[in-house]
Amino acid sequence: MIDSFHVELTTDFSNLVIRPVEKADLPTLEWGQKYIKYRRMFARLYNSTQSGDTLMWLIQVPQGELIGQTFVMLRSSDHSAANGDSRAYLFAFRVKPHWRNRGIGSWLMHFVENDLYRRGFKYLTLNVAKDNPDALRLYIRLGYKITGSRPGIWSYVDHKGHVHTVKEPAWRMEKRLPLHTSLD
Ligand SMILES: CC(C)(COP(=O)(O)OP(=O)(O)OC[C@H]1O[C@@H](n2cnc3c(N)ncnc32)[C@H](O)[C@@H]1OP(=O)(O)O)[C@@H](O)C(=O)NCCC(=O)NCCS
Repeated sequence: MIDSFHVELTTDFSNLVIRPVEKADLPTLEWGQKYIKYRRMFARLYNSTQSGDTLMWLIQVPQGELIGQTFVMLRSSDHSAANGDSRAYLFAFRVKPHWRNRGIGSWLMHFVENDLYRRGFKYLTLNVAKDNPDALRLYIRLGYKITGSRPGIWSYVDHKGHVHTVKEPAWRMEKRLPLHTSLD
């Protein structure tokens, strides 16, 4: 298992750190006001990291700002997404706008894939919204293949206690996990 991860990407942004989300990080996942609506969901997901069902990763400037994150469900009631031993599901993958298109997202994906491979998982699945061609292109470049279509209907309770239902038709994608030895 990997606890945290340092890599030199380019001369511009060496020494970024990938590490697990800690309880004290939860407010920073809100990106100011942008994702405040997911406050309760972040807390629930954090609780499920304690039982080992979910992994929450963030990328951070050393001692400083959170610049990206992704979460991984190891076990889900939908076994086609995550079944607890061979298949895991990646979600909430995002990099702050200022830091995009520099390879950070690809690096985070490689990190997650390596971590899962070492945990014994064989496949990583994800959903990508059909109206998100940029992310779709990135996943295809990283070796993910479309395996199906999902209505993408889910709901959450926001920080004020209001229930929201999201309808986001999505492609289900999947990749057989490699081991990226260049990251070792
Ligand atoms: C999707 C997302 C996480 C990708 O993060 P990122 O850090 O920009 O990812 P990368 O930099 O690795 O790749 C993005 C593009 O930059 C290119 N790139 C990679 N390294 C680069 C570099 N050093 N210089 C210039 N471009 C580079 C990649 O080839 C890729 O090109 P593509 O769009 O043609 O595939 C980010 O765009 C994001 O947060 N989007 C909003 C949330 C979202 O849509 N998440 C996905 C939900 S399914």
